[in-house]
Amino acid sequence: MGEALDRVGVVGCGLMGAGIAEVSARAGLDVVVVEAGAGAADAGRRRLEGSLARAESKGKIESAAAVLERITIATDLDAMADRQVVVEAIVEDEAAKTELFRALDKVVADPGAVLASNTSSIPIMKLGVVTGRPQQVIGIHFFNPVPVLSLVELVPSLLTAAETTERSRAFVEGRLGKQAIDCQDRAGFVVNALLIPFVLSAIRMLESGFATAEDIDRGLVLGAAHPQGPLALADLIGLDTTKAVAESLYEEFKEPLYAAPPLLARMVDAGLLGRKTGRGFYTYG
Ligand SMILES: NC(=O)c1ccc[n+]([C@@H]2O[C@H](COP(=O)([O-])OP(=O)(O)OC[C@H]3O[C@@H](n4cnc5c(N)ncnc54)[C@H](O)[C@@H]3O)[C@@H](O)[C@H]2O)c1
Repeated sequence: MGEALDRVGVVGCGLMGAGIAEVSARAGLDVVVVEAGAGAADAGRRRLEGSLARAESKGKIESAAAVLERITIATDLDAMADRQVVVEAIVEDEAAKTELFRALDKVVADPGAVLASNTSSIPIMKLGVVTGRPQQVIGIHFFNPVPVLSLVELVPSLLTAAETTERSRAFVEGRLGKQAIDCQDRAGFVVNALLIPFVLSAIRMLESGFATAEDIDRGLVLGAAHPQGPLALADLIGLDTTKAVAESLYEEFKEPLYAAPPLLARMVDAGLLGRKTGRGFYTYG
């Protein structure tokens, strides 16, 4: 296998990018983060500081300051030049991501570097083929919150080299302490392809008047030992995100079980997006 991936780049310091930067720095790796501009970089730094301060107060890390010292936040993509692995975690927009991968291909100097995406729904192949090195492009799909959830889905495209997958596995498992599962380059990978139709079925059940939201959720919590019911989970994921993932699954497979039910669409139209807007299937705060 090639060199270990110790110089880490993360593009985007939102919810996921900050989490990926945090777990990498907590693992002792040198991390460079690139954000879209000065304001977003400041917001990213605050996000990292807040999360690391919480980890320190809970005794999970010795010193937030020591971890932060390993993270450089920049606004120019040239800062990625010396990275061995770059994990892209910008907005879920195909045009934005293909533009970024084209640019990364020019900027990242090491011809053996791994160029990874944390995308939830965009085919890895579409990102690979815009670069001159599709054999080094792979999906490394983390779960939110990244410092807490141990799963990573590894998603090679048809053109990804086996060595890229193995180096990525060594990075996430050996360095970051995560556990990887292998998935094909298909919408939803493994987890969302199973989870989203489950959530959609619960919404259809509610919509048809079959049972109340509370009883559907209590049923799965008490009868199947789920930590939360599917409607509470949809509120946590965000109903807009749930609908967007359903649409990408439906687009890929054309299976009715992936089609967003009208109730979900109307709630998104109404701005009832779940926890983040204070109301979804339940009311918060
Ligand atoms: N939110 C989740 O639960 C989750 C889970 C797994 C994967 N993902 C995927 O992770 C990616 C990021 O999602 P998120 O929830 O962190 O989004 P987010 O909106 O919180 O963060 C995206 C960040 O990217 C920055 N950005 C946008 N364009 C950029 C560019 N060209 N260069 C540098 N920075 C740029 C934005 O300023 C923003 O801070 C998406 O592809 C999403 O599908 C999200």
